Amino acid sequence: MSAPVTRLEQLLDERKVVICCGSGGVGKTTTSASIALAAALAGRRAVVCTIDPARRLANSLGLTELGNEVVEVAPERLRAAGVEPKGRLFALMLDTKGTFDRLIERYAKDEDKRRRILQNKFYQQMSSTVVGSSDYMAMEKLYELFEEGRFDLIVLDTPPTKHALDFLQAPKRMTDAFDENMLQVFLKPWAEAGMKSLGFLGRALGKLVTKVDELIGLKFVEDFADFFRAFEGMYEGFRARAGRVDALLREPFTSFVVVTSPQPLPLAEAGFFCDRLRELEMRLDAVVVNRVQPSAVEGDGPREDVRARLRAKGPHEVLREAEAAARAAGDVPALLGAALRAFVDQELHAAGDRLRIEGLAQGPGKGVLVREVPSFSRDVHDIDGLRRLVEELFPSVIEGGARVPQVTP
Ligand SMILES: Nc1ncnc2c1ncn2[C@@H]1O[C@H](COP(=O)(O)OP(=O)(O)OP(=O)(O)O)[C@@H](O)[C@H]1O
Ligand SMILES: [Mg+2]
Repeated sequence: MSAPVTRLEQLLDERKVVICCGSGGVGKTTTSASIALAAALAGRRAVVCTIDPARRLANSLGLTELGNEVVEVAPERLRAAGVEPKGRLFALMLDTKGTFDRLIERYAKDEDKRRRILQNKFYQQMSSTVVGSSDYMAMEKLYELFEEGRFDLIVLDTPPTKHALDFLQAPKRMTDAFDENMLQVFLKPWAEAGMKSLGFLGRALGKLVTKVDELIGLKFVEDFADFFRAFEGMYEGFRARAGRVDALLREPFTSFVVVTSPQPLPLAEAGFFCDRLRELEMRLDAVVVNRVQPSAVEGDGPREDVRARLRAKGPHEVLREAEAAARAAGDVPALLGAALRAFVDQELHAAGDRLRIEGLAQGPGKGVLVREVPSFSRDVHDIDGLRRLVEELFPSVIEGGARVPQVTP
């Protein structure tokens, strides 16, 4: 496997698939969209497959409720946000059930079987509510997009799962499920209480069993049996495809970007993620630490003399001195005191972030590019916000001519 990238810009040129994964709420969707935007600005045909994007972000990309359809983000929208695309940007919103339906359509032996499965109540329940099906279907969609061959770069956002690590195992769970005796896999949960070890489909049923009272009527058993009759002959197709999806995740041109926030729990999970990707021999290219609290001491903050004092004495000491000086002058404006305290809080917070990020970079993230994005004062809900993320992550793309020239009146 070739070396990981040393600049994030390399992702745009050297990879065909980028998968953004990480814990819930850390910025996976916004990071994925920014990577695709950066690629489009740099001249590539890029598509981002988003999962459950915030409505405002979806609207600003031109995505509608319908989902599953690739739409082009109009170049005018990008220009309006101050950037000039040299390539093209496309986006879609994953529709888990729609993707599952397409798989059934692809592998059903005949029209009658296809209809019987799609209309089957058991199938409908399973395809839309099952734990883990969105994990697998995200990958399935990725594979579909890859097979189409229309894009230079496909960026995949990943579902907001509690256990982000499970995501990586989704194709394996799918192949395992189809390797075993299907009926046994499906029926075991009824027979045994210990259903945890049954893999993807077993766990799926575990979820359904919680609704057992409403579901276990005779009609359900009939639906259930009919589903299996109609599904017969499709196992091999499903299993083989899941194998190909898994292989795509291991291609040298497929790259994982772990997204995290600097808080202790997401950072710890990001560390596990890095380790797990290595174990699974998947290519980890970068860790993006999003929403980092910038430090006034380290960055472009106060005047150099103030920064030097802060560096030399630390924020607590500078605060004490400032308060003492103000008291000596017989005048401690409350606002100044509060502002100083807020400042010290911010510095402590920033110092904590810094320590933890260092820990990740020297630990599980060693040898991998670690990039930080500051916490903006506003949410990232439109192309303008994505552009700001691109400026942080891919500065050379913006400097390299993607900025719309400012017209001077
Ligand atoms: N650097 C940033 N500064 C400020 N707000 C941000 C930043 N990055 C992301 N956000 C905001 O944080 C929220 C969560 O981001 P996002 O939806 O991308 O996370 P996610 O990891 O996809 O979440 P989920 O796991 O729920 O899918 C959004 O409201 C987004 O606008
Ligand atoms: Mg998301």
